[in-house]
Amino acid sequence: MAPWSPNLVVRSLDQFLLFSIILLFLCSSSTCFATSGEAEALVKWKDSLDMNPTTHSLLRSWNLNSTTSTSHHHHNTPCSWVGITCNDFGSVINITLESSNMKGTLHNFNFSSFPSLLTLNFYNNSLYGSIPSHIGNLSTLTYLALDSNHLSGDIPSQICLLTNLRFLWLERNYLHGFIPPQIGMLVSIEFFYAHSNNLSGSIPVSIGNLSKLTNLELNINKIVGSIPSEIGQLKSLTFLHLFDNQLTGSVTMSIGNLSRLTELELGGNKLVGSIPNNICLGGKLSWFTAGDNNFRGSIQKSIRNCSSLVHLSFVGNQLKGNISEEFGIYPNLDYINLSSNKISGKLSENWGQCPKLKMVNISNNKISGRLPPELGKATQLQKLDLSSNLLVGKIPKELGQLKLLYILELQNNSLSRTVPIEIGMMLDLETLDLANNQLSGPIPMHLEYSSKLLHLNLRNNKFSGNIPFQIGNLLSLEDLDLSKNLLSGKLPLELGHLEKLETFNLSHNNLSGSIPSMFKELISLTSVDISYNQLEGPLPHIKAFTEAPMEALEGNKGLCSNNPSLKPCPTPKDKNRNQAVIAMIVSISSILFLLFIIGGILFVCQKRARNMDEPRETKTEAFFAAWNHDGKKVHEEIVEATENFDSKYCIGVGGNGSVYKTLLSTGQIFAVKKFHENDGIDHQQAFKSETSILPKVRHRNIIKLFGFCVHTRYSFLVYEFMKLGSLVKILSDNEKAMELERFKRVNIVKGLVNAISYLHHECFPAIVHRDISSKNVLLDDECEAHISDFGSATTLDPDSSNWTPFAGTLGYSAPELAYTMEVNEKIDVYSFGVVALESIMGEHPGDLILSLLSSPLHAVDVLLKDVLDQRLSPPKRQIADQVVSIAEIAFACVRQSPQSRPTMKQVSQKLSTPLQSLSVPFHMVTIKQLFDSPTWTT
Ligand SMILES: *[C@@H]1O[C@H](CO)[C@@H](O)[C@H](O)[C@H]1NC(C)=O
Ligand SMILES: *[C@@H]1O[C@H](CO)[C@@H](O)[C@H](O)[C@H]1NC(C)=O
Ligand SMILES: *[C@@H]1O[C@H](CO)[C@@H](O)[C@H](O)[C@H]1NC(C)=O
Ligand SMILES: *[C@@H]1O[C@H](CO)[C@@H](O)[C@H](O)[C@H]1NC(C)=O
Ligand SMILES: *[C@@H]1O[C@H](CO)[C@@H](O)[C@H](O)[C@H]1NC(C)=O
Ligand SMILES: *[C@@H]1O[C@H](CO)[C@@H](O)[C@H](O)[C@H]1NC(C)=O
Repeated sequence: MAPWSPNLVVRSLDQFLLFSIILLFLCSSSTCFATSGEAEALVKWKDSLDMNPTTHSLLRSWNLNSTTSTSHHHHNTPCSWVGITCNDFGSVINITLESSNMKGTLHNFNFSSFPSLLTLNFYNNSLYGSIPSHIGNLSTLTYLALDSNHLSGDIPSQICLLTNLRFLWLERNYLHGFIPPQIGMLVSIEFFYAHSNNLSGSIPVSIGNLSKLTNLELNINKIVGSIPSEIGQLKSLTFLHLFDNQLTGSVTMSIGNLSRLTELELGGNKLVGSIPNNICLGGKLSWFTAGDNNFRGSIQKSIRNCSSLVHLSFVGNQLKGNISEEFGIYPNLDYINLSSNKISGKLSENWGQCPKLKMVNISNNKISGRLPPELGKATQLQKLDLSSNLLVGKIPKELGQLKLLYILELQNNSLSRTVPIEIGMMLDLETLDLANNQLSGPIPMHLEYSSKLLHLNLRNNKFSGNIPFQIGNLLSLEDLDLSKNLLSGKLPLELGHLEKLETFNLSHNNLSGSIPSMFKELISLTSVDISYNQLEGPLPHIKAFTEAPMEALEGNKGLCSNNPSLKPCPTPKDKNRNQAVIAMIVSISSILFLLFIIGGILFVCQKRARNMDEPRETKTEAFFAAWNHDGKKVHEEIVEATENFDSKYCIGVGGNGSVYKTLLSTGQIFAVKKFHENDGIDHQQAFKSETSILPKVRHRNIIKLFGFCVHTRYSFLVYEFMKLGSLVKILSDNEKAMELERFKRVNIVKGLVNAISYLHHECFPAIVHRDISSKNVLLDDECEAHISDFGSATTLDPDSSNWTPFAGTLGYSAPELAYTMEVNEKIDVYSFGVVALESIMGEHPGDLILSLLSSPLHAVDVLLKDVLDQRLSPPKRQIADQVVSIAEIAFACVRQSPQSRPTMKQVSQKLSTPLQSLSVPFHMVTIKQLFDSPTWTT
């Protein structure tokens, strides 16, 4: 009845086509049917599954009532059922039901019913039970995927009857028992995956017959015995994954015959002997892992020339040998892990010639000598771990060029000298561990630029000096260990900003003073150790301190707390006396206030009519008159309005103080800057600068100071309130940055030019601000720029030398300040250039400036339009001209040599002269063009 016999096996495509044609001819006027039984067999199996709603709806079509439209016969064909494909004779060739959440066993699957089946794919379901031995009845099968199920039991030896099988996927099940010794019968097999099971026994020697095998993955099982030498006969093998088994013995030398091998993974076994020296003879090996075995001896020479390597791991063996002799140059290598071996020798500069290296771990070996500066050329490096070796010498500054580095571990060596500032400027760094070396000098304050730092460990070195307050800017920091150094001075209260800090160790230093009360803001802190310092005074009122064990607090000078290990703090004795002191101070402050107003009036600054705003005296007097010239009242009112400087009114924190928004009873809003509690000479100096210089200047683009108060514990300054806050804050907020349109930004830059030009050229003596940064540019509600924070400002007195210690903000300060303390106007010009670029680019131009300075050639192709703030639409017409003009000016301002920077007067003139139209269209202007633009006439 059926036009063909089920025993007829179609072997080749040609035969198949011929056969189809004959068949179509024979059947042209009637309908063809496959052997009966396929549909019934499928439904029978379906009915045996553990039905859940998903399976039920998925297999709805598996129904003996559903017949194809051509069928008027009693036979049911499953060819239109989900997951089923038939050949032209209506016989099932493909059953594929992937990731279908099917639960059940294969025991009711009648493998004899599918004489033409080529593909059986149940990948990623929940089939359980064993694989039935009848699976061997699927004699035509080429593709069997039972991976990612819950199958258990042995691999039935009958599977080896599937001599047409090319792909066998059994991985990610719970199969146990041996790999059938008859596996060599699967002569067509190309992919054999059985990893991530519970297979035991050894690898059958018959595996050597599988001459078409390209991928063999038996990793993550419990396979024992040695790797059979027959494996060397697998001429087509490209992937051999045997890791995480219990293989023993040494690796067969025949492995060298696998000339197509690209991945060899042997890690996590119990292999012994040496790494075979012929392992890379084929020249294709790219992935070689042999970690966590017992390999001994030296790494053989074939690795040295194995330039195809991409990934190499020998971690956790007992390999010896000299690293500089046994490793060469690998143009494609991106991962190398040699840690925990006994490798010696020095690091050669070759590592810098592996341009794709991302991860290097050579920790815990016997590497000696210095760190080669050439490592800085491996610019893709993300992780570098050279800890626990015998390295000496300094940390090369070239490591700072590794801009993608996020883990740098150099602990447990003998590195010495100071840490180069470049190490602090790796923007992606998350872990920096330099513990247990002999590093000295100050803790690099530039670390503040590594703003993603999570773990900073400098324990047990010879770092000295103060803890830089900039560490308080590392807002992601979770672990900070500065213990066992020679650190002295007071604890910077800025560390109180480290809200994510969990562990904090300062023990065994020479730190003194009291613990800043700001430390109570360390809300994530779980473990603290401040023992063996000279600290005194009360502990901050947070659990980590008040419940710290005695060992974490002992060895200090005079700490007090309600912590049971310490003596309680004295309670304030005489409140009235304190009040008397405050009253006195307040009345002194009233006098100062008056003096300051008089000083302001008397001060002579040349004025240009257009810079004149309403006279400041009027406003100041109005402010002051509201309290009948009563300084005490002013003070009280401000303390009251800010609820004793409650943090909810705080609108900004700077190096010297915090700024509070203050609404006074008169209805006026002011910004009150409260200097950090009087404990630093720097703060006093800043207060002095600000109160002596600011009253003398009068310019619409410079913040107005209305008055100040001096108090025993703190001092504060009263300024006009700037509604929009600082430029940096706006630029870092996408929404606000988008509202700050290009013409507003151009206007801000112009305002800055006017203000700085006024300070430099119209005041006598000239005033240098010294800390121009986007943090100190405040915007009022009309987006008009106002320069603030004159805490570092100084006058250029012609009669005295202008040498002062460093001030300013990193990233904005002129490069010459690294080697000179001489102050002149050009340092403001530089900072202005940075802020101007930041305004038009929307972000700090640090990298751009660095790349221009280090290799201007790279800038050739960079278009101006591509570095502008991309959150805004490209500028048009006049605004485009002005943006180009600002960029050109700004690039001149950030020139390396102070002499070649323009003066602010020149900048002002250039910006106010009518613009010539651009010689090239805006979208073609390159950075290089601007950078090289004609020098300024001086
Ligand atoms: C198939 O059809 C018969 C009668 O036509 C009906 O009784 C039976 O329920 C149907 N079965 C299914 C699974 O729909
Ligand atoms: C089998 O069928 C599935 C879809 O049902 C299809 O994705 C797959 O390519 C088919 N396999 C072969 C070998 O034709
Ligand atoms: C496995 O199947 C489930 C559904 O049963 C699906 O959610 C999941 O994404 C699948 N996993 C993979 C790796 O295909
Ligand atoms: C399986 O199918 C074959 C062929 O259709 C049939 O002869 C046999 O009886 C079936 N076996 C069972 C257990 O149903
Ligand atoms: C199916 O496989 C079983 C187990 O290997 C075997 O006993 C039986 O003879 C096979 N049936 C056919 C039709 O090949
Ligand atoms: C693997 O097999 C061992 C015995 O050989 C057994 O103790 C263990 O439970 C099995 N693990 C799994 C996940 O089946």
